[in-house]
Amino acid sequence: MNSSDNPLRICCIGAGYVGGPTMAMIAKQCPDIQVTVVDLNQSRIDQWNSDVLPVYEPGLKEVVEEARGRNLSFSTDVEEGIRGSNMIFISVNTPTKTHGVGAGRAANLEFVEKCARRIAECSQGHKIVVEKSTLPVRTAEAVKRILKSSSNGATFDVLSNPEFLAEGTAVSDLLAPDRVLIGGESSEAIEQLARVYERWIPRQKILTTNLWSSELSKLTANAFLAQRVSSINSISALCEATGADVDEVAKAIGTDSRIGPKFLKASVGFGGSCFQKDILNLVYLCEHFGLSDVASYWEQVVKMNDYQKQRFSKRIIRTMFHTVSDKQIAIWGFAFKKDTNDTRESAAIYICRDLLEEGARLVIYDPRVSEKQIRNDLLNVFKDHSLEVSARHRRLIETNVSVVSDAYQASQNAHAIAVMTEWDEFKKLDMKRVYENMYRPAFVFDGRNILDETALAKIGFEVHGIGRSSKFSI
Ligand code: UDX
Ligand code: UDX
Repeated sequence: MNSSDNPLRICCIGAGYVGGPTMAMIAKQCPDIQVTVVDLNQSRIDQWNSDVLPVYEPGLKEVVEEARGRNLSFSTDVEEGIRGSNMIFISVNTPTKTHGVGAGRAANLEFVEKCARRIAECSQGHKIVVEKSTLPVRTAEAVKRILKSSSNGATFDVLSNPEFLAEGTAVSDLLAPDRVLIGGESSEAIEQLARVYERWIPRQKILTTNLWSSELSKLTANAFLAQRVSSINSISALCEATGADVDEVAKAIGTDSRIGPKFLKASVGFGGSCFQKDILNLVYLCEHFGLSDVASYWEQVVKMNDYQKQRFSKRIIRTMFHTVSDKQIAIWGFAFKKDTNDTRESAAIYICRDLLEEGARLVIYDPRVSEKQIRNDLLNVFKDHSLEVSARHRRLIETNVSVVSDAYQASQNAHAIAVMTEWDEFKKLDMKRVYENMYRPAFVFDGRNILDETALAKIGFEVHGIGRSSKFSI
């Protein structure tokens, strides 16, 4: 396929947080390969074709601008995208099922199946289909069977090539990944994909496995990472009860080379589109295969995360004299982590829900998340089983939530500040100015342990971090 009469042409279905940046990087690094990213969502495609990309990632704009119009294009013409390519990535979303068998756990594979059917319909000749979306182990089996039904006699190889990039660092992760994983049956197809990555990634970092190992490795990697966060968060509760400091404990254990320092930052709880979804998917798979002990082991990671979020809301309420009703709380940060505009499963959503239920007035500021997104997320979190939002909750969001454009404004006349996202700008604020405009006692609940609590206590704040004893004004 790399011969000049049949050069490699890539199409990716799904222009989301994964498909968009990954394809932009391939196009940047391989100027001779045509890369087309297609998506059903017209406004998303329009954004990819504009100056304001739908995904905020440091350095992404430069990568897109270098390749767009040269060998990178974004379009809604899925059929043409499939026809014109010989390697097709599937990077559509695979959310947790909300109803039916496996609701709340199993992955909804509707979009992946639809993509496979579309590929089967529109293809001729031979194509390599690459699973980029995170999928339950053995999904490739179903994809292969659907592709076989192609009416045009097209033939296919199916590869699994999970993406390990983290949001906020997508560009650097794509530029220098720890590894690239390619699973498949055909060594020729594996080789063709490996040659793409080899343009900028050393060969020894490109691992090849069978299909099932590759699919399962992605779920396992996310489960292990999330487990570390839940483990340190569980210890944070013990630290608060005993006077130990969780950041000191994390440092002490992280210097053990067998444990390592990463993913040991205690927090208000992990969020993001992947951790919870992938663990629940793993739990469902284990149950499906009759491994109920294994399922409950992993389920505990999600339960611990829910516990951590609840603990944080309860601590705010308890500390503020058991009531936050009609009190103003500044919410600093709404994204699930810094350097992204993504709010999926962000802990902030759940903390805001709990505080609103208690009657608090919230003034929210996030450097990258739009007011529309924040209001949408809050409406969604109040949906009941029939996916309705009660009139009371709608009113609550209308009257008790404001979204402002800087952190000072959010804390003006506030009774408390809750830090939800570890944005760097929060560390650089003039906290004396913040303090002067707040009610006393001026509470700070630092859900990310990013603020200098000793300095804050000196100003007069009462600071409650995660996994450490509270610091009162001194
Ligand atoms: C998605 C999956 O959630 C994740 O499991 C996987 O690892 C990578 O792909 P992400 O890119 O973050 O992650 O999802 P999202 O931002 O929702 O993007 C998916 C895109 O696919 C959306 O733009 C959606 O419009 C598009 N899509 C979905 C299609 O084009 N066709 C479909 O049939 C379904
Ligand atoms: C994750 C995986 O890291 C990535 O490899 C995979 O492809 C997708 O899922 P992502 O969700 O983008 O990436 O971000 P990540 O940096 O893993 O953070 C996930 C959540 O855990 C965030 O809410 C973050 O704040 C939280 N976290 C992370 C902690 O609370 N403490 C930590 O030490 C690390």
